[in-house]
Amino acid sequence: MKQVWLLAVLALSPLVWAADTMPATPSAATADPARGRKLLLARQDTGCILCHQLPGFKEGGEMGPSLTGVGERLSSEQIRQRIADPRLLNPQTFMPAYFSTAGLHNVAKPLQGKTVLTEQGLEDIIAYLVKNPS
Ligand code: HEC
Repeated sequence: MKQVWLLAVLALSPLVWAADTMPATPSAATADPARGRKLLLARQDTGCILCHQLPGFKEGGEMGPSLTGVGERLSSEQIRQRIADPRLLNPQTFMPAYFSTAGLHNVAKPLQGKTVLTEQGLEDIIAYLVKNPS
């Protein structure tokens, strides 16, 4: 019986892994970590620092995990998935989905069908975070 379970888990694990990651977009080729840091600190545009601590910035929030050293804990594909749509990992998360328009309600007309971050903005932020700032 134990072996059957193990086989089932092994058979399903690639699916679980796939849901945990998102491959690079074409904009990754022109990603700029300096622009990424600026976006991370832009309270009005992204709000990341309302919930996260960032190295070299004292006023970060504590609702989410600190982003210090995140490039050591997670791959760029895992970081991309967590920013684009963290609901895939935790449906109850209160972190917004920054690169998805799925399941959003009551969106103002001019913003309908638009993601919070542009594809370039998403890749700029990842380029900064994978440098593993500390
Ligand atoms: C409203 C609060 C909030 C905002 C705003 C927010 N996050 Fe998060 N973030 C969280 C929480 C909470 C988690 C923990 C994951 C969960 O909820 O399951 C998280 C997790 C993460 C993770 C995974 C970190 C780890 O160590 O696992 C990354 C990377 C991340 N956020 C990046 C960002 C970026 C980049 C932005 C801005 C574009 C942002 N977050 C905005 C709350 C927030």
